[in-house]
Amino acid sequence: MTKVKFYQGNEVTLEMHKVRIVQKLNLLPVEERAKKMKEAGYNTFLLQNRDVFMDMLTDSGVNAMSDQQQAAMMQADDSYAGSETFTRLENKIEDIFGMKYFLPTHQGRASENIISKKYVKENSIIPMNYHFTTSKAHITINGGIVEEIFIDEALKLTSDHPFKGNIDIDKLNNLIEEHGANNISYVRLEAGTNLIGGQPHSLENMKQVREVCDAHNLMLVYDASLLQDNLHFIKQREESCKDKSIREITREISDQCDIIYFSARKLGAARGGGIITNNEDIYMELREYITLYEGFLTYGGMSVREMEALTVGLEETMDEEVINQGPIFINYMTEQLIERDVPVVTPAGGLGCHLNAMDFVNHLSQDEYPAGALAAALYIVSGVRGMERGTMSEQRQEDGTETLAHMELLRLALPRRVFTLSQVDYAVDRLTWLYENRHLIGGLKFVEEPNVLRFFFGRLAPTSDWPQKLIEAFRSDFGESL
Ligand code: F0G
Repeated sequence: MTKVKFYQGNEVTLEMHKVRIVQKLNLLPVEERAKKMKEAGYNTFLLQNRDVFMDMLTDSGVNAMSDQQQAAMMQADDSYAGSETFTRLENKIEDIFGMKYFLPTHQGRASENIISKKYVKENSIIPMNYHFTTSKAHITINGGIVEEIFIDEALKLTSDHPFKGNIDIDKLNNLIEEHGANNISYVRLEAGTNLIGGQPHSLENMKQVREVCDAHNLMLVYDASLLQDNLHFIKQREESCKDKSIREITREISDQCDIIYFSARKLGAARGGGIITNNEDIYMELREYITLYEGFLTYGGMSVREMEALTVGLEETMDEEVINQGPIFINYMTEQLIERDVPVVTPAGGLGCHLNAMDFVNHLSQDEYPAGALAAALYIVSGVRGMERGTMSEQRQEDGTETLAHMELLRLALPRRVFTLSQVDYAVDRLTWLYENRHLIGGLKFVEEPNVLRFFFGRLAPTSDWPQKLIEAFRSDFGESL
């Protein structure tokens, strides 16, 4: 997006793209939505997309592609081994990241599976700014222990810290001193820290982490799934990077890493993933896992069409006018909600707008899943589907006690170039109404609870008849309106 001066003197940020393919949407009446929510076990993951008006569950695999990406998909060279398509992608990755080796995987967590299988040992420690659900699950399933060493500001929901995703360097040093570098598998840094509200790390912080890794001969593994937002924030918020191009910043980031892995469902606006390294030993160590779990080395579970789309998508990621659209929309939505006193995470980060459910429904305790209840309530009153990022997304401890999340967030993702501003205004309007009627929202309890990643397909029930009360209030305020 680009700032343009209007005749009245104000500066307006305009989209630097036009929409040429559209998809029809449905907005069901509130009673129907409540029925669908019940059928889905009050878990937004279990809703059918046809029943959703704005799908703000995630940006994963649902960003709008460019015409160039779609065109490239038509020219894919389909071959099990040695396809031209793979070579084009490998060359693009070397061009952007300056690293020779690329191992393709079918998505981000497949890269996590392989890295964890190879490097995580029983009781070894993996320090990181913050965990992501699948990253933690793969580490713990291999016997590793996640140690989060975020800066204190990271958990402050309202803050003006520009880089809440930074690692606390003192905590990292203390951890190494306490456990010894030999008991640490690697240090993991996540771009655009997902679970704390899409918050970025700075380039300076990353360089400091690198110095510590060098001093103790530790590998730095970088989760670049949300790199695109993080690049934008480094350019916007880090004084020393103001005059650097996105390409230069990307190269400086990759210069700090031993391993970069990513979900191409986010980075590159395609579907797939991969592991990148410049270290031949690492490449040789991980290579066999690709053929074992993913596919042959020249596709790794990705379709050649997606590889072509990724090659173009990565190049487009180097364009600030392309990657700033997400953060600008997220900032708009966040500011609109702040104006209406709805509690949100600040500063606005990447990926989506994050509501602070602990404040929104402060009459609910964490074991009633406030963020999950808010997600269900929002769908009922608007047809907007968000994602719970709180205690429901945690795993119970071995003795069955709940692991209470640091934060109870409802994430409303803004897939890139998918929604219009009037749709965002609609979501803001219904959220404002819901906030004013928040006392009507009750808790949830599990009726079917899987042991691993329970938030994906667990089923819940309301702890009272609160969804019915919500429908009645909606009808009394909005009449016959959808
Ligand atoms: N790392 C981060 C930071 C992620 O956000 C994700 C996915 C992954 C790894 C795993 O990648 O889905 O391709 O296997 N995040 C999605 C989300 C699921 O909705 O935030 P994947």
